[in-house]
Amino acid sequence: MKIAIGSDHGGYELKQGLVSYLQGRDIEVADVGTNSEDSVDYPEFAEAVALLVVHREADAGIVICGTGIGISISANKIPGIRAALVTSPEMAILAKQHNNANILAMGGRILPLEIAVACAGAWLEASFEGGRHLRRIDKISEIEKKYRE
Ligand code: RB5
Repeated sequence: MKIAIGSDHGGYELKQGLVSYLQGRDIEVADVGTNSEDSVDYPEFAEAVALLVVHREADAGIVICGTGIGISISANKIPGIRAALVTSPEMAILAKQHNNANILAMGGRILPLEIAVACAGAWLEASFEGGRHLRRIDKISEIEKKYRE
């Protein structure tokens, strides 16, 4: 299992905590940065994580900005990415079970590390349920194809 992870400055501290958590679980981590609390632009880190996921160089990704909003919007611009912004373990479980989210997004200024770790763990352990949810995900892919330039 290899997880790509990236954040802007607003998510940096939470990212560092999540990297330690993942490594503590013997999960390989590809950390695309940022590497300090100096101001940076979240779309760059969203794109870096998303490309590792769509190119199958990582099994899944985690992205973090201040709220999780900007970085999840950015990641979802990459075809094939289903980035889910979550604020609770319940949302993280459903993001996998129903949406087969391949990227988890969280807000570094929203969630304490303890909750973010619980979200990441719940999402990693949950399984996609398929069935009617697969039909809906296929419809997301159809929308991507329809509006591709
Ligand atoms: C950066 O100040 C902040 O706007 C960013 O981290 C994020 O919250 C945007 O959605």
